[in-house]
Parts: sequence; structure tokens; C-alpha cells
Amino acid sequence: MIDYVRIFDTTLRDGEQAPGFSMTAGQKLRMAEKIAAMGADIIEAGFAAASPGDFDAIQGIAAHIDGPVICSLSRATSGDIHASGKAIAPAKRQRIHTFIATSPLHREYKLKMSKNEILDRAVAAVKLALEYTDDVEFSAEDAIRTEREYLKDVFEAVIEVGATTINVPDTVGYTTPEEIQDLFEYLSSIKGADKVILSTHCHNDLGLAVANSLAALRGGARQIEGALNGIGERAGNSAIEEIIMALKTRQDFFNVKMNNIATDQIYSASKLLSAITGNPVQRNKAIVGKNAFAHESGIHQHGILANRETYEIMKPEDIGISEENIILGKHSGRAALNSRAEKLGFTLADNQLQSVFVEFKKLADEKREVFDGDLEALILGQAVGAGGPWTLQSLYVAAGSDAGRQPEATVRLIHEDGREETAVKTAAGPINAAFMAISAAAGLPLKLEHFSAQSVTGGKDAMAESTVRVSTEFETYQGFGTSTDTILAGAKAYLDVINRIERRAVRQASIAAQH
Ligand code: KIV
Ligand code: ZN
Repeated sequence: MIDYVRIFDTTLRDGEQAPGFSMTAGQKLRMAEKIAAMGADIIEAGFAAASPGDFDAIQGIAAHIDGPVICSLSRATSGDIHASGKAIAPAKRQRIHTFIATSPLHREYKLKMSKNEILDRAVAAVKLALEYTDDVEFSAEDAIRTEREYLKDVFEAVIEVGATTINVPDTVGYTTPEEIQDLFEYLSSIKGADKVILSTHCHNDLGLAVANSLAALRGGARQIEGALNGIGERAGNSAIEEIIMALKTRQDFFNVKMNNIATDQIYSASKLLSAITGNPVQRNKAIVGKNAFAHESGIHQHGILANRETYEIMKPEDIGISEENIILGKHSGRAALNSRAEKLGFTLADNQLQSVFVEFKKLADEKREVFDGDLEALILGQAVGAGGPWTLQSLYVAAGSDAGRQPEATVRLIHEDGREETAVKTAAGPINAAFMAISAAAGLPLKLEHFSAQSVTGGKDAMAESTVRVSTEFETYQGFGTSTDTILAGAKAYLDVINRIERRAVRQASIAAQH
């Protein structure tokens, strides 16, 4: 019988907690819908005790997402476990994931606890979590650098009291494929291993996360944890889309099956995440990078034309890249728009469809033909714009070649607390003037590091996608915006950065108030 491997998606927890990847509760819910549509077995929706915002986001996901198990992370403390238990309560299928570090370094320097104290804490945490749900995952943080005998003792103890999934994190991305396969073979024979699911959670510090996760699977892991686009602490987690496509493409080799994974949702999920977090994926990224299915060299094109399989081991449509390009126009109705959005991998709730439809009508008035790329940019831009707290009410820029005058931008912003701010700025260039005016209106001067804008389809009236990068003393932020007007796309991306900074400050303040 072929074994079944569970896909555990931690985009919204390990991914979201990485600097520069934060999302609002609404954006997390939107991503959770997408991850559920992709068919992940478990969604780790956040870390309930981290802040009231995290708690609310998990609760919202638990209330609205059907299908996957909804999970919340907790340290091995009663406060964290109570928070997780309450946050996931509305979900039909619930999991509490509790963890404590077990390696010598963490024991001595972080926890300052003995082996026995840690083991007792782990057991107590699992018992308490079981009062909320019978689906409890236990992780030994930094398991890879933990003595095997001790790891075995801890795992056997938590299995004995009822943990159902045992996760073995490579917290610092240190292991190698051979080493982790061997460790999983060892763990597969500890007492009670046959009653639980062994799980792997690899970080990518040495660029080995996906290879290590797949090696763990060969050693006996039957749950793989990862995040879309490989986001996560430091160099990130295993890229879940790479895991999924490796298991699908090399089923002959891995000989396991996944449950209900809709691989054709992968591309749009990756795009949505990039837009929402403001972090584009690198061009040559496996599976979802722009170049992953591009064949520009003459030799490759020749082969591809003769038979795609000469250079393609997967088809673009497998991950949801549509090769057909239906053109919509100003007479296209809501149903046509919705069905095209579905084809591109975006399921829009009624209110989302309504706001995309309004924007689509404006766009169809400006340009006769709306291509898939334009529509995708509209949908992504709308998902980002919903982040707040500031919205751009108007932007007017005057620019030209009059030597005596500088370009001038007038901006009006509205804050969700009701404030309305206007600013006028002149600068050497129109983009610069627009950015300075936005900063002045929001009261947040920033040092721009990078700005880019490119059209998503052909023609002079195409939609433009813009990204902006800004560094503050503590962090780097990226923003994303779209419009047929390049300056407006840039302004939206710049405002997206300002919104991220403000949201982060609010979140930090709420965490500080808690502790
Ligand atoms: O990397 C890690 O150790 C973790 C655990 C909390 C599972 O993310
Ligand atoms: Zn992690």
C-alpha cells in the first residue's frame, strides 16, 4: 500500500513571523483561503499568544476555512496553550502545536533548564493541549543538534501521554540529507513511533531545506512542513511548492501520495503571497520563478517545439500557468470576469469580486482589451490595497521639460482612524515628488532604496506592477502596487511600505503592552 504524506503549510506562522513578511488578519485570511484551495492538509495559522492581532487572525481563519486542520503554535507553557486552544476553537478540525527546545545549546543558554525539567515541561504541555483537542503536535526545537538518546526519551514520553504528531525541526538549517534520513530511520523505531506521524520541518540556511525534507521522507517522515515561496525565519523554510512538485513529478522515486493537492493553485498562491507581503520571488526560483518555464535559448526552443519533454519535466498548466489568453473588454460582465479570475487561480468572494469589477470597468474604459496579465495585476493590487491603514484618495502629478519648474505632486491620504491629510511636494523627478508628498502626508519620512516598475502585458496602455524597497534603522520593507499609470503604481507601492511600517509599529506596541 502506498503511504500518504501530509502537507503542513506554515506560510502564515513561520513564514509570516520573518522580518518583512507580516500580513494583516484580512490578508492572512485571504492567503488561508488560497492555501486551503491548494489542498494543504494542515494550515498553521499563527502563534496565538504572540499578540492579540495574531490571536484574532487565527480565530478568523478557524471560523472561515473549511477542510484543512487549523493549527496554532504554542510554547510549552500553559498561557500559550490556552491561547491556542481558544483561537482554534471555531475550526471543525483543530490542532495545537507545542514546542520546547531540546539541544544542549538551547538548554544551557536559552532555557537554563535541565534535561529532566524540559522533558517534564514537554509532557505537561502535551497533556494540557489534549484537553482542547485530540490532535496535538509536539516539536523538539533544534532537534537536529540534540543528543539522539535524549531526543528519543523526550519523544517517547510525549507519545506516551498522547501526542499524535512528532515534529523534528532543523531549526538552524544545519543538517544534510544523509544525516536527516538516518535520524528519521532511527526515530521510526522508538517506542510508540508506529502510533504517531513523524514530521520534518527544515530551514534553508545552507540551501538544503527541500533536499533535507525529502530525505526525511525517505527515512520515514509522513508529514512535511514548509511555506509558500520558501518564506520563513532567516533563509526561510522548505518551499512547499517545490516539495509538492517534487513528490508529484518523481512519484516513481518517492512512492508516496498526497491528499487532494490541487497543484494548479500553486502559481496564483505564490503570486498572491508575493503581492501581499511585497516580496517578489527571484526570477530563477524553482517552480514559481518567472523563468521557471521560459525557454529563450535557441537550442532549447528548437527542442521544445519538437517535443516539450525535451526540456520540460513539468507543464506550466500543472501549476496553474494558463497558456490561453482570453481577452476581456468593456462589455464583459461580472460572470465573465469571475470565470476568468477562477481560470487564473483566484477565487473571489462577493465583495472582492465587486471591487475588482469596479476597477476592471475603469481599466476596460482606458484600454480596449484587458489581458490575463492586466487582470492578475488588478486582483493582486486590490489584495494589497486592502491592507491599510492609509488609502490613497488622490494623486496629481505635474511634470514636463520646463527648465524653470520642478515636477510637483499633490497627494491626499485617508487614514482608517478618520484623518485626512494632504501634501504638496516638488522634486527633481515626478516619482520622487509623489513619494515625498506621500511621506509628508503620512508623517513618515523614508529613505528610498529601490524602485522598479514594469508593464505586465504588451502595449502602451498595459498595467504596470511596481515594487519599492525602503530600509529603516531596524528593518527592510518592500511594497507592491499596480496601475495603468506607472507613477500611480509606484505611489501605491510606496504607500504599501508606509502601511507595513505602521502596522508593524502597532503590532510591536501591542506585544510590548502584553509583556
Ligand atoms: O524552526 C523551528 O524550530 C520551529 C518550531 C517552532 C517548530 O519553527
Ligand atoms: Zn521553523
